[in-house]
Amino acid sequence: MPQDKFYITTPIYYVNDVPHIGHAYTTIAADVVARYKRLEGYEVFFLTGTDEHGQKVQQAANDLSVSPKEHVDKLHQRFKELWVRLNISNSDFIRTTEERHKKLVRNILQELHSKDEIYRDSYEGWYCTPCERFWTEKDLAQGNCPECQRKVEKIKEHNYFFRMGKYQEWLIDRIKNDPHFILPASRRNEVLGFLDKPLEDLCISRPKSRLPWGIPLPFDEEYVTYVWFDALINYISIHGSLDDIKASGFWPADHNMVGKDILTTHAVYWSTMLKAIGLEPPKNIFAHGWWTVNGQKMSKSLQNVVEPNQLIDKFGVDVIRYFLLREVPFGLDGDFSHKALIGRLNSDLANNLGNLLNRTVNMMKKYCGGIIPTPATAGPEDEPLTTKAGEVIAEVRKLYGELAYNKILQKIWELVDTTNQYIDKTGPWNLAKTDEGKERLKTVMYNSAESLRVLGVLLNPFMPTSTESLMKQLGVETSIEEQGMESLSKWGGLQAGSQTQKAKQLFPRIEDKQAEKILAELAAPKEDNIDSQITIDEFMKVELKTGKILEAEKVKKSKKLIQLKVDIGTETRQVLAGIAESYKPEDLVGRTVIIVANLKPAKLMGIESQGMVLAASNDGKILLAGFDQEPGQGIQVR
Ligand code: ME8
Ligand code: MG
Repeated sequence: MPQDKFYITTPIYYVNDVPHIGHAYTTIAADVVARYKRLEGYEVFFLTGTDEHGQKVQQAANDLSVSPKEHVDKLHQRFKELWVRLNISNSDFIRTTEERHKKLVRNILQELHSKDEIYRDSYEGWYCTPCERFWTEKDLAQGNCPECQRKVEKIKEHNYFFRMGKYQEWLIDRIKNDPHFILPASRRNEVLGFLDKPLEDLCISRPKSRLPWGIPLPFDEEYVTYVWFDALINYISIHGSLDDIKASGFWPADHNMVGKDILTTHAVYWSTMLKAIGLEPPKNIFAHGWWTVNGQKMSKSLQNVVEPNQLIDKFGVDVIRYFLLREVPFGLDGDFSHKALIGRLNSDLANNLGNLLNRTVNMMKKYCGGIIPTPATAGPEDEPLTTKAGEVIAEVRKLYGELAYNKILQKIWELVDTTNQYIDKTGPWNLAKTDEGKERLKTVMYNSAESLRVLGVLLNPFMPTSTESLMKQLGVETSIEEQGMESLSKWGGLQAGSQTQKAKQLFPRIEDKQAEKILAELAAPKEDNIDSQITIDEFMKVELKTGKILEAEKVKKSKKLIQLKVDIGTETRQVLAGIAESYKPEDLVGRTVIIVANLKPAKLMGIESQGMVLAASNDGKILLAGFDQEPGQGIQVR
């Protein structure tokens, strides 16, 4: 039997900046559904990517004095790399500068132009450069852009327009007749409110003289395509030509998942574009809410942008995936705080779930020799647990239909709590004391472990790595993907006789002292990591000099450090170098090295180091930088 297909997308993110927690949020949310649907047996296509044309990207490249092409080739990597770190299971990654995408955009433009869905007209309007949108006089908010409140410019030019206005009635009907089309309901009403006003045609071109960075219009090479008309097509260009798309079984998409900032472009531009192209709109457009940070909008100037890589380093991937989807109902705005994250890690993950696994695996070892026992027939004390599991599984399945992640997790935690209570009530430590109790103990231990297996499957979409580790500890060798939701259809999927493994904390608690330290580190101002280039003046601030090693001696109690006396022409410096694993002190004397001469002195193991020696380090092997001829001491190096 052919598998049912399921298609979910994220927005394609602008590569004008590096990814932050907001981008991670949408992508993780989509990933969870994609993983869940795979567990339900669907053939899933999950798409994300980058939006690489348009004004914003061109501007970002200009600011860095590189070509737009160089800029996007470099910056899109940040997104790809982050998705790997966040365990995102996307099926493909679309870049709008790829030929496969540009081809379909140009074909669609050509076809719509020949069908007179696109026409040329002169246009005068107020243009907001950051938003890349034209506004009419009446749209403006006190003379400024109604969206971002910034200054607008009056522009008059010829352009091409898509006859969007004629689809207004069709779109209103479509939204009204299908309550699932735009979610959540509050956002759907906003779109309907927007459609109360007459819907104008959409300007879909930009003169090359103003913006060269885009897809040229196939019927007029003096213009490039408006970035939104280009970008939205990514959702279908991934599947090939229009015929391929229809044959793929992946259109209409099940969810185009977006943030509320770009709901109009999806609900209105995208739906009407598809209508004109002759394709169905997506089955659902879901607009989630906005994250602020400690109550403030995330912005570079406030230096409060939450960098996902940093969070992964400090807390681990699964904790972040869990926190983002547990903390705020999907669809509502939320506020990010590291404190709240640590709070959830300690309570939900370490105390409740982590501890449940830990005590179960430990008792399994202690009372059953680490072998999953065969349970006896269920008794009245077991019923609340098995009933709860059944209820939670059914409810979780239903809640996925509404993308109600936080409710899904709350529901799953009801089973965590019920299982902990079950253990407390049945008291394996007491049962172990009598012969009769020992028989009963087998059932209790089996049920606790089976409940954890159920939890592992249910939580796998949210926490893929931790749940696989949970399964290993329980002695389950089949991967969770292979077990699938099917394996939850009846109680008892856990194989009696399997050997459990050593208990390992899934989520180590972060104690107060350590939390303070982490919070302080995270609060430290971050460098602007988009622009890793420095000017020649900045480089020249580093004073590099040649120096001759006069003495070398191993630092006692340190594996790596060697203490050097280096003659840098004007004076002798005491410098510590972490090279003892690659060099013997006696081989160093007489060598010429390169010293950073204006580094602030620092103490290492109680010894002051007045500079730094340059060296390459590769896989633990260290090689001192040097010269192919003797340059003499105290010579400047550039
Ligand atoms: O708009 N809170 O790209 P973009 C929650 N290229 N989500 C956030 C967020 C925040 N503070 N900040 C960003 C574009 N997001 C276009 C899309 S689609 C055909 C083209 C997420 O880089 C959220 O999903 O500005 C939002 O919609 C998206 O990033 C905007 O990303
Ligand atoms: Mg944006």
